[in-house]
Amino acid sequence: MNELLELSAVHFGYPGQPPVLKGVDLTLRAGERIALTGPNGTGKSTLLLLCVGLLKPTHGQIRAFGQLRQREADFREVRARIGLVFQDPDDQLFCPTVQEDIAFGPLNQGKTLAEALALVEQTLSQLNLLHLKERVTYQLSGGEKRLVSLACVLAMQPEILLLDEPTNALDEATCERLIEILNHLPQTLVIISHDARFLRRVTQSQWQLKDGYILPLPSPLSPVPAHRHDGALRTLSGIKMMGSGR
Ligand SMILES: Nc1ncnc2c1ncn2[C@@H]1O[C@H](COP(=O)(O)OP(=O)(O)OP(=O)(O)O)[C@@H](O)[C@H]1O
Ligand SMILES: [Mg+2]
Repeated sequence: MNELLELSAVHFGYPGQPPVLKGVDLTLRAGERIALTGPNGTGKSTLLLLCVGLLKPTHGQIRAFGQLRQREADFREVRARIGLVFQDPDDQLFCPTVQEDIAFGPLNQGKTLAEALALVEQTLSQLNLLHLKERVTYQLSGGEKRLVSLACVLAMQPEILLLDEPTNALDEATCERLIEILNHLPQTLVIISHDARFLRRVTQSQWQLKDGYILPLPSPLSPVPAHRHDGALRTLSGIKMMGSGR
């Protein structure tokens, strides 16, 4: 199987804080859909930030798409191919309107305005959110912001999607719609969630982060057929979080 992302003995701690990750090994292969669980504060979000180079390991290695990634420049291509939906939508959204927020990524990738606007339309339509297109981003509800955050990342057509607690603030019907959407996406997925029922429906295997280490969980998760890439996804360059400095 094609290894897209490999973390080997990754250690990390925030300055002046005890270590968060003490030797994490994780391999993500094309087409996999994995769940990442674990108690609050164990470093799940931190792990996703490390995967896209927004934080750097203190020790250990990250390989992505067949290459060792160490410096900021190495991670630019990674961030073009891995889309992270942050735990807090306010870290993702910073433009005045929904349309501008979603267009930002594609424009940053070098798309023309017409192409970017077409992607806005297509992504909002896919998520059934066209009615939010002209809305002022900061006035959206928590659940609306979460879905628009997902739209921002999907519009950049990444190969891997990292979703940090994507069901937070979603009502039951919207959560059902999200499950439906995720199960029809072609991307390889890593999903952090505390919602076991949701994870059972969208992922194939479960890992737990605890005490600085990651372990596979023998779980009753029933497999959901992974959607393979229909063809080569475009290689993209530049993403919003780079532009935002976050
Ligand atoms: N910027 C930061 N500076 C210092 N410490 C931080 C920072 N961000 C997170 N931490 C700490 O690092 C640890 C891991 O945080 P992280 O957000 O990765 O946990 P998590 O597993 O995602 O938790 P949750 O389930 O609550 O989202 C926590 O103890 C947290 O307080
Ligand atoms: Mg978190």
